[in-house]
Amino acid sequence: MKADQVLIEHHNVLRSLCKKITATPAETAQRQQHVDELLVELDIHMRIEDDLFYPAVSAASTLVAVAHAEHRQVSDQLAVFLRTAPEAHEYEGEWQAFVTTLDAHAAEEERDLIPPPVDISESELEDLGNRMVDRMTQLRGSSAHRLRVRARGAALRRL
Ligand SMILES: [Fe+2]
Ligand SMILES: [Fe+2]
Repeated sequence: MKADQVLIEHHNVLRSLCKKITATPAETAQRQQHVDELLVELDIHMRIEDDLFYPAVSAASTLVAVAHAEHRQVSDQLAVFLRTAPEAHEYEGEWQAFVTTLDAHAAEEERDLIPPPVDISESELEDLGNRMVDRMTQLRGSSAHRLRVRARGAALRRL
């Protein structure tokens, strides 16, 4: 699969997980489960972009620098949300702020980096996409990865 298609499809996975979380009442175990799932998928997404996609399009250096800065914003807002107790009155607001930040970043990537504004052939895009899919499959099957991401989330929640 071509790299840009991999990203668009995975953005939609993230967006639908966000919708599922929004639709699940706060303070339920199910919401917590969906949030944990989002943490894992978001971590996978940032890894395939930071390690594979962004380096491959690094000739578009300004856009890639913006994308890296936005990943930090997404992670910072995620940390703020995770540190907010579900019973706190700011909880839904922090969640919505996270969704807005993530969605704005994904939309910007889909506008500026897809298709990549660099000299890259169709077969290179296909190779890159296949490597991204392999990485996603490997991370999704890794219980060590899942545990690491959960532990990070749990540590933030305790702060
Ligand atoms: Fe990104
Ligand atoms: Fe993305």
